[in-house]
Amino acid sequence: MSIEISAMTKRFGKTDVLRGIDLAVQKGELVALLGPSGSGKTTLLKIIAGLEWPDAGRLAVDDQDWLQLAAQDRRIGFVFQHYALFPHMTVRDNIAFGLSVRPRAERPGKSVIAAKVDELLHFLQIAHLADRYPGQLSGGQRQRVALGRALAIEPKVLLLDEPFGALDAAIRRDLRRWLRGVHDATGSTTIFVTHDQEEAFELADRVVVMGAGRIEQIGHADAIHDHPATPFVAQFMGATVELPVTLHSGRADGAGLDLSALTRRALPDGPARLLVRPQDITPVPDADAPWRITTRMSNGAHLRLVLNHPEQGEAEADVPRRAVQAAALVEGAPVRLKIEAGTIFPQDRSAPPATATPKSPQARLESSR
Ligand SMILES: Nc1ncnc2c1ncn2[C@@H]1O[C@H](COP(=O)(O)OP(=O)(O)O)[C@@H](O)[C@H]1O
Ligand SMILES: [Mg+2]
Repeated sequence: MSIEISAMTKRFGKTDVLRGIDLAVQKGELVALLGPSGSGKTTLLKIIAGLEWPDAGRLAVDDQDWLQLAAQDRRIGFVFQHYALFPHMTVRDNIAFGLSVRPRAERPGKSVIAAKVDELLHFLQIAHLADRYPGQLSGGQRQRVALGRALAIEPKVLLLDEPFGALDAAIRRDLRRWLRGVHDATGSTTIFVTHDQEEAFELADRVVVMGAGRIEQIGHADAIHDHPATPFVAQFMGATVELPVTLHSGRADGAGLDLSALTRRALPDGPARLLVRPQDITPVPDADAPWRITTRMSNGAHLRLVLNHPEQGEAEADVPRRAVQAAALVEGAPVRLKIEAGTIFPQDRSAPPATATPKSPQARLESSR
């Protein structure tokens, strides 16, 4: 089923939770909605499921207007982070539930349901758990059962809201690969919500980055990583260091910065913002340079350096501890900053002049409310 959302808005009290969402998902596609907490991901998913209604906008699935359809008529498979399986039912009965509560006229016979559940148990690699109760399962096993329950009704659309959010990193990685396999084998149209960029990028065909009720960028992992469309996306992708630069004919210039690795940008001359990941900053010892290392911390593999410039404030750099120059990067050392990669954005006219202050996407989000 293809899903088409257009000009969708939703407000709760005084909060604009969705501010004009346009999104088309192709049949059989696996799309990840990626964004910080509070950006409106769950609200969008609930609207698709029919658990919430928008204030304005359209939701069409295979050209049918789904806003005219009640939740139970949409045939949605929904898996939440904390999916409550029925504790008093076995895995087998939990998975069969959606089929066994159908109105009599549509309900398959008992043996048909049993065969269907058996097929799913094998397909999802949980046949050995069939007669257990949810309390006897690990978190990862429970989420597999939850997906089985969602898939049993042969949903037209599968919606997954941070389904692995509560699990350990290693189990999440396993489940990710497993889910991708399940998706490819069923050919379902799937929307997966997460705030974890690694999860979104590894799993999805396309990633939709959301911030404060808007879609900031839609694209493949590499494009979002290398060419963030907005400062918000750059910061969300880890470019937490902001350095003020000046543009002349598309070339950037900045105090104590070596920007020769950056490509030209077709932006007007004058002040601009450079957003950089700490790992893309290489401090180079230089007696005449204006930056100083104020703090040096090691986490074993990497050095995290805090850098200070008398006018521009602070920046942070991550350097592999085994790097050639690492031994020279001591507290108090003067350095220039070689910028290996980063994105230049026009100066935000409404904002005060940029200073070199690391700012998290969450902090930006809060301040933009
Ligand atoms: N039923 C509700 N009533 C009031 N505010 C809500 C409701 N549901 C969500 N919100 C608010 O809407 C915003 C977006 O929430 P949500 O869609 O859950 O975001 P996300 O899933 O990205 O974390 C938040 O500010 C949240 O507090
Ligand atoms: Mg949510």
